[in-house]
Amino acid sequence: MIRIGLIGFGYWGPNLARNFSVNPDIELAAICDFSEDRLARAQRFYPQARLCKTTDEFFSMRTLDAVAIATPVATHYELARRALESGRHVWLEKPMTEKVSQAEALIDLALRANKTLLVDHTFVYTGAVRKIKQLIDKGELGRLMYYDSTRVNLGLFQQDINVIWDLAPHDISIMDYLMPFRKQAVSATGLHFFGNGLVPKSLLTVYLEGNLVAHINVSWVSPVKIRQTLIGGTSKMIVYDDTQPSEKVKIYDKGVELNSTNKEEIYQLKVQYRVGDMYSPKLEDQEALAVETAHFVDCISNSKRPMTGGREGLEVVKVLVAAQESLKNRGLPVGL
Ligand SMILES: NC(=O)c1ccc[n+]([C@@H]2O[C@H](COP(=O)([O-])OP(=O)(O)OC[C@H]3O[C@@H](n4cnc5c(N)ncnc54)[C@H](O)[C@@H]3O)[C@@H](O)[C@H]2O)c1
Repeated sequence: MIRIGLIGFGYWGPNLARNFSVNPDIELAAICDFSEDRLARAQRFYPQARLCKTTDEFFSMRTLDAVAIATPVATHYELARRALESGRHVWLEKPMTEKVSQAEALIDLALRANKTLLVDHTFVYTGAVRKIKQLIDKGELGRLMYYDSTRVNLGLFQQDINVIWDLAPHDISIMDYLMPFRKQAVSATGLHFFGNGLVPKSLLTVYLEGNLVAHINVSWVSPVKIRQTLIGGTSKMIVYDDTQPSEKVKIYDKGVELNSTNKEEIYQLKVQYRVGDMYSPKLEDQEALAVETAHFVDCISNSKRPMTGGREGLEVVKVLVAAQESLKNRGLPVGL
């Protein structure tokens, strides 16, 4: 039985608590939040867990085997460092840290302490993303050309970070999992509109090796919620719409073929469009956090490397930091 303590019971923490509490190999032993309201709420749902108002009280609990951190990104490094240094396994929310050096330090700490460090890139554990991975790995899409995602809605405004730090980690982690190619550079554009200096809408372009490009559109100021990813290959193309209750993934047998490399002939439009069938595969519908929780237990119990560990977390942080720099310079590409 793994005794876990959770820090942060705001918006996301309760989802972790719910999944930890129903996993037969986990005991949710403590919840820490400096907000009285949030602690009162935690007590109603988890009366058996010890409630801590300060992290000092939380870390003084000698019996915790693992710590889950669901607080704002600015606190991630310090809390994760403390947890690892006191010999606990760590579940750390995305994005892993604010700085590349902090992510590297945590990877090193976990390695030296021989502890599991999992970064919560939730979408990697969804049935939809795992199915798309299988299709790409089988070569069904042909040569990959692009990753194109739109993740926009109205709110939830964060008070301390730009939208790229909030929403783009999902897309970068999905892209890294599906297309594990070296990322070369990122360009990001966006402005702030509300006088708080925070950019609520941004477009990222990530250049990958192998002539691949990703466009990631994130926003908190869209009137409608869109969670759509297009993945284009030379043979087939995928539409992944996470807002659909069923048929989230559709595979289109569509493509474009240029039958000539001769410029004259291309000019005369020797282009063929292939328009074949569309199908929607059956997906596993277990909640991603339940799959991820079981995976965390497996990694701890059997000394396995998490599918989304420190290295994967670091990759995301590198893109975010570079995107932040590019944002300041109106989209000037920053090397990765
Ligand atoms: N994996 C996902 O899909 C997903 C979804 C949403 C949020 N998140 C991540 O979860 C983290 C938290 O986001 P949120 O939206 O829940 O934020 P939130 O502001 O709603 O909640 C954070 C909670 O942590 C508490 N807190 C902050 N600092 C603390 C500290 N030092 N000690 C004790 N309590 C502290 C706050 O009182 C608050 O209740 C972020 O890193 C965010 O990116 C992940």
